[in-house]
Amino acid sequence: TKIDYIQSDGTRITVDAAPGDTVMSAAIAADVDGIVGECGGNMMCATCHVYVDEAPAARLPAMTDDEDQMLACTEAPRTALSRLGCQLPTDEPMVVTVPGIPT
Ligand code: FES
Repeated sequence: TKIDYIQSDGTRITVDAAPGDTVMSAAIAADVDGIVGECGGNMMCATCHVYVDEAPAARLPAMTDDEDQMLACTEAPRTALSRLGCQLPTDEPMVVTVPGIPT
């Protein structure tokens, strides 16, 4: 499945996610900058924060309370498009923006 990651400088990286990958794990496997996945997908770190640009909301899994709480701890500002990459399956093509880390 093609997952596109847009970096804060506009660079677009297209990753071919393997079955079972999440938006976080596919990014780690492909060395996409800005997605760290420190906690390994356990909703404990928020270093997998992405903005979902192109994916019908209906296709995304509903946000759990745990994800909602962790999104309050992101380094970049949370928006209506914010999700934890480790909670997003890659069974549908998707375009996400990787938040720039504020300096
Ligand atoms: Fe840590 Fe997603 S990888 S919250």
